[in-house]
This record gives sequence, C-alpha cells and structure tokens, in this order.
Amino acid sequence: MADERVKRISEKIGTYPDFPKPGIVFRDIFSVLADPSVFQDLLAVLEEQIRAVCPDVEIIVGLESRGFLFGTPLALALGVPFVPVRKKGKLPGELKQVLYTLEYGTDVFEAQAKCIKLGQKVVIVDDLLATGGSMKAACDLVTSIGGTVSLCLVCIELEDLKGRETLDKPFKAIVKF
Ligand code: PRP
Ligand code: ADE
Repeated sequence: MADERVKRISEKIGTYPDFPKPGIVFRDIFSVLADPSVFQDLLAVLEEQIRAVCPDVEIIVGLESRGFLFGTPLALALGVPFVPVRKKGKLPGELKQVLYTLEYGTDVFEAQAKCIKLGQKVVIVDDLLATGGSMKAACDLVTSIGGTVSLCLVCIELEDLKGRETLDKPFKAIVKF
C-alpha cells in the first residue's frame, strides 16, 4: 500500500534539466501539490515515518521555504509546535544563525533562540536533500539552540550527491532519484 502511494508521488514530481543553472536537474515538488490526492498521500507517508521513528516528537522544524509546505501540516497533524528556520534577516527577536552551502550557492539560516527548549525532540522537515548543506546547517542550528535532532525527513533525496553522508542524525526520504 505504502509503495503504491510512493509510486504515485514519484510519478508526479516534475523534472527540469539545466534549471536554475546548466548541469542541475531540478526536481519540482510543486507538481505534487497541484494534485490534492497525491499531496494527501505524501503528507500521510511523511506522518507515518515520523510516528515510526520518533513517536514522541515535540517540535517540527521546517526549512524555508519549501520545507514550510510540509512542516506546517505535519505539526498540526501531530499536535506539536512548528518552528521555522529562515534565511537571514526575516525573523525578529533574539536569533541563532549558521552559514551553509547548497547545490547552487551559499546562504545563512536563522532561528529564534527560544523556540526550542533544552533537550526537546525535534524532527526537521524539508522538500529535498541535495548536497545536504541545508539539512546539516539546520541540524547544527537546532543543536546550538539546545534541541535534540531525532529525525531529518525529506520528500526527495538526490542520491548521487551523497548528502545523506554529511548528516550524523537519523535520516529518511520518501522518494529517491
Ligand atoms: C532547496 C531545497 C532544500 C535545499 C537542498 O532550497 O528546498 O532546502 O535547496 O539543497 P542542499 O541539500 O544542497 O542544501 P532553496 O535554498 O533553493 O530554497 P527554497 O526552498 O526557498 O526554494
Ligand atoms: N534544491 C537544491 N537542489 C535542487 C534540485 N536539484 N532540485 C530541486 N530543488 C533543489
């Protein structure tokens, strides 16, 4: 049953060679969101992964911007707070920050310093793992705030880029290319 859903999700993901730069094969998650029944399948499979690996999750962290699409409904479904990790300059208040590299650039991630309590169990959600730079930076940020990263969860993993190897936390992906 799960495999049928994953097959439907996988078939919906758009593929765009040489976007946004030559040599990058862009995997577009928005085509999944355009089909409510497949989007629902994806959210259900993500939720099942969280319940299986980290049933006592206390916080869902989502990475700007595509991670917000999945992190917010998952936090609601699980009945736990959603915490955003945003790119520099967009969050108010006392912040923690971390510099990171991604498949086609560098950036700074920030989170509000008091958004996670010491030792709280955190699941970090994003649409896609490429080099792993964003997810690794988010892990470092959550850890620096005092959270415990119980699971890094993505919809899509680009296996060739070996981003998984940069992570020292439990990792799950729904669809692999
Ligand atoms: C994309 C994607 C992941 C990240 C993956 O985000 O949504 O967050 O890149 O790449 P990495 O594994 O090499 O770090 P992007 O920074 O393009 O932002 P967006 O979600 O706002 O489009
Ligand atoms: N973010 C980083 N690399 C990406 C890719 N190849 N497709 C979609 N989003 C990405």
